[in-house]
Amino acid sequence: MAKKKSLRSAEWFGGKDKMGFVHRSWLRNQGYPDDYFEGKPVIGICNTWSELTPCNGHLRDFAEVVKRGILEAGGFPMEFPVMSLGETLMRPTTMLFRNLASMDTEESIRANPLDGIVLLTGCDKTTPSTVMGACSVDLPTIVVPGGPMLSGRFRGEKVGSGSMNWMIKEKHHREGYTAADFTEAETCVARSIGHCNTMGTASTMATMVEALGLTLPGFSSVPAADSRKKRFAQLSGRRIVEMVREDLKLSKILTRKAFENAIVTNAAVGGSTNLIIHLTAIAGRIGVDLKLDDFDTLGSKVPLLVSLKPSGKYLMEDFFYAGGLPVVLNELKERLHRDTVTVNGNSLTDNYKDAVCYDDDVIASLKTPFQKEAGIAVLRGNLCENGAVIKPSAASEELMKHKGAAVVFESMEDYHERIDDPDLEIDENSVIVLKGVGPKGYPGMPEVGNVDLPKKMIMKGVTDMVRISDGRMSGTAAGTVVLHVSPESTVGGTLAFVKNGDCIELDVEKRKLHLDIPEEELNKRKAAWKPPAPMADRGYVKMYVDHVEQADKGADLNFLVGGSGSKVERDLH
Ligand code: FES
Ligand code: MG
Repeated sequence: MAKKKSLRSAEWFGGKDKMGFVHRSWLRNQGYPDDYFEGKPVIGICNTWSELTPCNGHLRDFAEVVKRGILEAGGFPMEFPVMSLGETLMRPTTMLFRNLASMDTEESIRANPLDGIVLLTGCDKTTPSTVMGACSVDLPTIVVPGGPMLSGRFRGEKVGSGSMNWMIKEKHHREGYTAADFTEAETCVARSIGHCNTMGTASTMATMVEALGLTLPGFSSVPAADSRKKRFAQLSGRRIVEMVREDLKLSKILTRKAFENAIVTNAAVGGSTNLIIHLTAIAGRIGVDLKLDDFDTLGSKVPLLVSLKPSGKYLMEDFFYAGGLPVVLNELKERLHRDTVTVNGNSLTDNYKDAVCYDDDVIASLKTPFQKEAGIAVLRGNLCENGAVIKPSAASEELMKHKGAAVVFESMEDYHERIDDPDLEIDENSVIVLKGVGPKGYPGMPEVGNVDLPKKMIMKGVTDMVRISDGRMSGTAAGTVVLHVSPESTVGGTLAFVKNGDCIELDVEKRKLHLDIPEEELNKRKAAWKPPAPMADRGYVKMYVDHVEQADKGADLNFLVGGSGSKVERDLH
């Protein structure tokens, strides 16, 4: 019979010496009985609750529910906070801090007497940051996704949190919306607890962790306010205790095949382009080789099976009522790897074999998809030597093959200053080029790629134009937007050398993004180029700017790639 593995926490609490005394003693002030220190799996509940992250505002209550489950299964729950990244308040962008939050998570887990981890997540970056950190330690880990908000209605019309942001300029100029109209709309879009209720980045991340096998099956699409969400949270608490006993670590679940399943699933749900960066960074932490081209090779031919905003018409609550992600995963079963293991010990495909679709207007079958090919296209060309991405399901068909003259903005500030200038030389065929919004340039690679169109184009009734940048785009946004251009302009990528009037060619079918100027002219501009001054000279931001990788590599800090395991060599005395 195999020898039972002793618990990691026993290295702290099992000691009969001075250190054992210290480790137990101070915790006694919380009133824990003796048997808590005698071999119960200690489960860390890593909580991204914060009043500054409204999407995660309910996770404090959820932690109590998770604790119930842990106690029932014979574990010892210990909740701890980590840096929480709220999309709507943090400046200049949460992406600047994703890697910092991942370091917080990693070190908090490793340094403490924990045997298993529950990650409480919600708003966009709170999922990848905590999963990245947990991967670098590699203990048994389960994710509790906080869930989307309920659907909102504004004057009879269904509105998605997030997606409405992108219509504000248009509503103001074309429909004459007043401040009072916007105040009313504000409350309608954010109707309940939970994260954005479109297939934006938060729902994409929740879908991703479920497709990777890190949540109980069916968990990710349940709205935050639905009582079933708490039931799942409690069951997750029970399950993590068993996972510790089974030593079902992250590295056993997060194989290359699990990542491939996540890519296919993301394509089928029309998920955010942000997935590319986060999934690549997670793969880097767990030691799986994932390349930018994998997203195109594995995902771009997958049909779109859901009609969720921004690619379709419904919201996450409708998705849940239609059967949610289980229906999609069941439908995809022939395209998914069957031999992956998930947190409940079963394979991904086994978990969903009984799923039933209740509304085919929301979730389609493979035979009658909403689009034949969804996913993400990876572009190549002299304008993006290490790649760029576009989400065809959110783009305009007629712009997918386009040639136009560049209208260049050197920075976000330059864009704000000139975009609505009536004298700006621009028409609907122009290509808007935005520089300086990459990982090092902004810094932090903000979600600005889907810049608003100029007022005069909006007034003309133009609803989409080709836009190209080294930044990201919110998962709730849409448009013919080329993103993640790598290398970014700030480090001397070709994007830095584009000038007003240059012809740019986009051909999504051919995966081409080309700056059409003579080679000698390009070389001349390169030779004359001076890199911009560094964006920071101290603190975390300096460390970030000095070490951040380019978008095609997941924008992790170069020294964070990989993991250090869960072993800690030395003690505090
Ligand atoms: Fe938090 Fe959208 S702002 S999920
Ligand atoms: Mg977002």
